[in-house]
Amino acid sequence: MHSSVVITLLLAVLQAVVAKDLRTVTEPKIPSACSSLSGTGKDETSTIQKALTSCAKGKALHLASGTFLSGPLTIPSGVSLWVDSGVVLKASTNPNDYDEGKNTCGTLDSSGSGCKPFITIKGATGTGIYGKGTIDGQGGQTMTGKSESWWELARDAQTKKKKQNAPRLIQIDNSKDITLYLITLKNSPNFHVASKSTNGFTAWGVTINTPGTARNTDGIDPMGSQNITIAHCNIATGDDNVAIKAGNAATKHVSILNNKFGVGHGMSIGSEVNYGVSDVTVTTLTLDGTTNGLRIKSDKSRGGLVTGVTYSGVCMHNVKNPIVLDTQYSSASGSHIPTFKGITFSNVKVLTAGTFTFDGISDSNPVEATMSNVHIKSGSKWVTTHAKISGKYETDASGNSC
Ligand SMILES: *[C@@H]1O[C@H](CO)[C@@H](O)[C@H](O)[C@H]1NC(C)=O
Repeated sequence: MHSSVVITLLLAVLQAVVAKDLRTVTEPKIPSACSSLSGTGKDETSTIQKALTSCAKGKALHLASGTFLSGPLTIPSGVSLWVDSGVVLKASTNPNDYDEGKNTCGTLDSSGSGCKPFITIKGATGTGIYGKGTIDGQGGQTMTGKSESWWELARDAQTKKKKQNAPRLIQIDNSKDITLYLITLKNSPNFHVASKSTNGFTAWGVTINTPGTARNTDGIDPMGSQNITIAHCNIATGDDNVAIKAGNAATKHVSILNNKFGVGHGMSIGSEVNYGVSDVTVTTLTLDGTTNGLRIKSDKSRGGLVTGVTYSGVCMHNVKNPIVLDTQYSSASGSHIPTFKGITFSNVKVLTAGTFTFDGISDSNPVEATMSNVHIKSGSKWVTTHAKISGKYETDASGNSC
């Protein structure tokens, strides 16, 4: 056998060994086009939606050139959207376009559920978003008919202790085998990608590039979902780069492979873990400039069991809180007690000093973690309360970049 074939096979086997996603996931392929459109820069919501609705299953609507402006879109089951290289699909800045009927999109209230997402994938099988083009949520632009941007609205919500009604960029609900491939997502008004109650989700070669100051702009959030692969992605944003949640159903069989995170709040699990998170691997990850590195966070109002989580081949630089296992992320009360156990850190290198926190609920319910080949920078702070840590770490990390 040719040696490169042997190496390729070997890599495939290695990948299969580390993967927790039960599917065999390989690099996606862009489906062929059902039709092509050229953007004019003007509002093209109905043109795009009609073309998506009439696209044959297994094919993709090809946005082939130019800039498109659009309000909310729904991608039907089996159909894909292909945003080609150089093409920009811009989300409307008009809150009325997204309003759920309560006239609250673009305002503050106590629920924050007044806006439709920009792109909805719901009850779909085999739908995807492909291509080297860009989907721009325009979160920093002044909203139509208002005096502030979606991000300024989100800041206001924080100071006024309310919730902002701002659209997510891509919402995937109750679906199967959904793919995001090569696409660049930026400036989402809220979360970039949420996949809820979805079995089979792949984000491969996706770039998310949004300022660190843009509040609540999570990168990719699998929620109550199974068989997830997030691979070869580059994620910089204003909240969790990735956040695995389980507030509506269990999330398990998750592979986070070969990714790079820039600014953001890090590789997170939580805060909602009520239904449990298990069988997660984070393998080969670089974090540079995130506030947190590897974090599991919850509290008594939304805790549950988080177990079978392995982090390996992780390098961090300029990360304030490189490892955080925090069962008391907020002081919220309740009977949903967080339990974090079977958490493994192996081959982890942290090049700059930071604070490491292991904070369990009680001595009878400590956070349980294992360390092997963990090298951190001298001068770091190591804080443990109700924690059972086996293995050890060394304060001998050196080097200026990952
Ligand atoms: C996960 O993938 C495996 C392998 O393809 C499949 O057997 C299983 O049913 C999937 N799980 C869910 C919940 O869809």
